[in-house]
Amino acid sequence: MALPQIAAACRRLISVRFIYMEHRSVALDGPAAAGKSTMARRAAGRFGLIYVDTGALYRAVGLYALRNNAGPKDEQAVARLLPEIKLDMRYDENGMQRMYLGDEDVTDEIRKPQISAYASDVSALAPVRAFLLETQREMARKHDVIMDGRDIGTVVLPDAGLKVFMTAQPAARAARRYLELIGKGIETTPEEVMREMEQRDKNDSERALAPLKAADGALILDTTEMGPDESFESLCAFISNMMISGVR
Ligand code: DC
Repeated sequence: MALPQIAAACRRLISVRFIYMEHRSVALDGPAAAGKSTMARRAAGRFGLIYVDTGALYRAVGLYALRNNAGPKDEQAVARLLPEIKLDMRYDENGMQRMYLGDEDVTDEIRKPQISAYASDVSALAPVRAFLLETQREMARKHDVIMDGRDIGTVVLPDAGLKVFMTAQPAARAARRYLELIGKGIETTPEEVMREMEQRDKNDSERALAPLKAADGALILDTTEMGPDESFESLCAFISNMMISGVR
């Protein structure tokens, strides 16, 4: 490449980086039921960030595919539906994210175990990932965010000011998820939760596209031996350090 072209390429790179750097972003990745959403929501409140639950987007696509009889691994059938899917992430007066499919609030429905499995399957499809990428990046361009998912630090926001990979041993995660589902009145058993979770982790980490893994430079937060408050304070310590250091 000639010198002027190299200079132009550098300017483009710097301006792309600048767009994302105007706002603070925290990327929080990890396996299912690691406690990411609970911790991210609390941290958002403490640090004045917008919490973006990206799993809700994949779940809403999964729900739409299910309702329209598209097999979750049938790439062509799911891709055909994408242009008609109207996703909207709204925030209620308490700052809680609500997921809308068209005018319908599907926030609670997408938490059902059947939709978890569907979401994991559709999320392995290239057209689905491409369809949702810009929505996620746009949130980070417009707001200071803490965004949780599987590929936030690796793909969606590789320049995030802080990348955290939150995990815990499977037994600890399954026990927490079981209590959460029962608390929401969803009938299940500990065995079913463990089976579903392990299957999902396997799908999410073995898929070809944007698999679940810790991003380069991510801080690992293993909460197996931690209660909720200790996990939260550990995450907050990471975020405080980011803020003190002035990184965005
Ligand atoms: O975070 P969650 O459990 O609500 O996510 C549901 C599924 O969506 C998960 O099994 C994999 C997929 N997902 C993804 O592939 N990438 C993300 N950034 C978030 C979720």
